[in-house]
Amino acid sequence: MAILFKSAWDDAGEWTRCIQAEEPELEVRVWPEVGEAADIEFALVWEPPPGDLKRYPNLKAIFSLAAGVDHILGDPELPEGVPIVRMVDQSLTAQMSEYAIYHVLRYHRNMHLYESFQRERRWEQLPLHRAQDRRVGMLGIGVLGQDAGRKLQALGFDVLGWRRAARPIDGIETFHGPDGLTPFLNRTDILICLLPLTPATRGILNAGTFAALPEGAFVINMARGGHLVEEDLIGALGSGQPGSGHLAGATLDVFREEPLPPDHPFWRHPKITVTPHIASLTDARSGAQDIIDNIRRLRAGTPVRNLVDPEIGY
Ligand code: GLV
Repeated sequence: MAILFKSAWDDAGEWTRCIQAEEPELEVRVWPEVGEAADIEFALVWEPPPGDLKRYPNLKAIFSLAAGVDHILGDPELPEGVPIVRMVDQSLTAQMSEYAIYHVLRYHRNMHLYESFQRERRWEQLPLHRAQDRRVGMLGIGVLGQDAGRKLQALGFDVLGWRRAARPIDGIETFHGPDGLTPFLNRTDILICLLPLTPATRGILNAGTFAALPEGAFVINMARGGHLVEEDLIGALGSGQPGSGHLAGATLDVFREEPLPPDHPFWRHPKITVTPHIASLTDARSGAQDIIDNIRRLRAGTPVRNLVDPEIGY
């Protein structure tokens, strides 16, 4: 009985230790040293090579090392009927919220402008806005969006949400479906994308979306690079100087191509803040506990938590 580990970014040694601390019987095989394919019962992956997962005839579940599962569902030869489980972890959720709060506050308190003022030795005080006058729109209000949204509410921000399906959320005004998108965007000063990447959400951060935001809005993408039409963002930011363009700024943690190529215009754009996909990093200890708990549930035939619906894509 073995679990296959495949990720170019996560520490295989640490994950192996954490998994074996929970379940010493489970052998961890680190890709590409997979050994006998028939031994592999579980896979724990980030960006598995397309076509690889169908090689294991006894595969019982595929666990994502991340909250998103687009990196698995994108495999055209994914074995049919094998459950896919996404990572839902308290520390991952808390880190995502920290990132959202940090960047909302940075824009809200004009810190992005003061950073450039300092470089120019410019002493200038800008007007302050009240948090309750700043509307923060969570594009995607599932586990992650709700946690960040509630914490932003606690700081006084006017938080609203948008999601695919009509499901009300206690205490957060929520819009849904394609018809709800424009009214939601019209009322959003700071847009935070936390959506799963699916065929329905690919390219959702586009010229039409930006135009529906109020003049001077900000965009924070902490979901997937595939949500953003990069050229449209550059267009909406104008010349890059404050005051030009429809959008006042954008913070991007995720990109169509990662690592972001050195010659990409985002790196040096005065109105774009780039971070290297660090909004959250999955914690091996709590992640391994969660995976082992789900493996026990699978064995016992009890319902598995955080199961993905491949039809909807998350
Ligand atoms: C990271 O990108 C994640 O999906 O958790």
